[in-house]
Amino acid sequence: MSDDPAAVPSGDRFGLRDGERCVALPAVPDAGVYFIGRIRTPWRSRADCPKRGSLDGPVCTLEIDERWAEALTGVEAHTRLQVLYWMDQARRDLVLQNPGHVGTLVGTFALRSPVRPNPIASSEVRLEGREGCRLQVRGLDCLDGTPLVDLKPIHGEK
Ligand SMILES: C[S@@+](CC[C@H](N)C(=O)[O-])C[C@H]1O[C@@H](n2cnc3c(N)ncnc32)[C@H](O)[C@@H]1O
Repeated sequence: MSDDPAAVPSGDRFGLRDGERCVALPAVPDAGVYFIGRIRTPWRSRADCPKRGSLDGPVCTLEIDERWAEALTGVEAHTRLQVLYWMDQARRDLVLQNPGHVGTLVGTFALRSPVRPNPIASSEVRLEGREGCRLQVRGLDCLDGTPLVDLKPIHGEK
């Protein structure tokens, strides 16, 4: 953790590693987001999650809210989907990060870290099945209960 008190914002939840730098966030956000559901996975802590989803990974479930049921019409025609989700357990103010696996400081926009001003993650998954508003997929890497932001088909899928 950093000894530099200037690097630690008040209300810090997750702490800083050596050399990491944060900035003050804007006073108000520029837009809002509607979560369309939640993602059910086997992982209860960030340390348990894979760093990157794999199509050989466990089946996870996208639980889409009933409100959006009609928006799933035709989804089974696609074997591959892009899933966008909201990394709700990460701080949003870091500009320089010290990822353990890199060994040097790297800018937030040069990383796929969940720590970013708008903590949107994406994975390309394989659709394994559907029961109403529940989609079974492989290829995710997030905590159980992670909010779901959007689904899009991947065209030209194999
Ligand atoms: C490196 S990110 C990659 C996410 C996505 N595949 C991407 O490329 O945008 C995956 C890591 O985020 C962390 N993570 C998973 N779910 C999270 C959540 N809900 N909030 C904060 N961090 C999360 C875990 O440490 C996981 O290994």
